[in-house]
Amino acid sequence: MPSKKKVVLHVNGREHELTLDPNVSLLHALRDLGYTDVKNGCEIGECGACAVLFNGTAVNSCMVLAWQADGAEIVTNAGLGTLAKPHVIQEAFADAGAVQCGYCTPFSSQP
Ligand code: FES
Repeated sequence: MPSKKKVVLHVNGREHELTLDPNVSLLHALRDLGYTDVKNGCEIGECGACAVLFNGTAVNSCMVLAWQADGAEIVTNAGLGTLAKPHVIQEAFADAGAVQCGYCTPFSSQP
């Protein structure tokens, strides 16, 4: 078993220090931290359900190892805005009634 790695993740403005196996994906690290707004869909980089902003660039977090995000700024869907001040994308979803099952709806409780 490879040795564990210490990783610092900055997620939605909060800092998390973790010790992880080197094969843990950013998706699983985020979900284990309670960021359940990052959804687990295909885990092969095709569906986009796990998308986050990684230093301002959208990535599929299932395709990134958590240690690769050491020190990076991560923004999840829930970090885009708040209920009181939603992001323009969240407003557009609400305005268009673009909610079906709610699986992808980015409003969720912050960990
Ligand atoms: S879970 Fe589908 S792209 Fe990551």
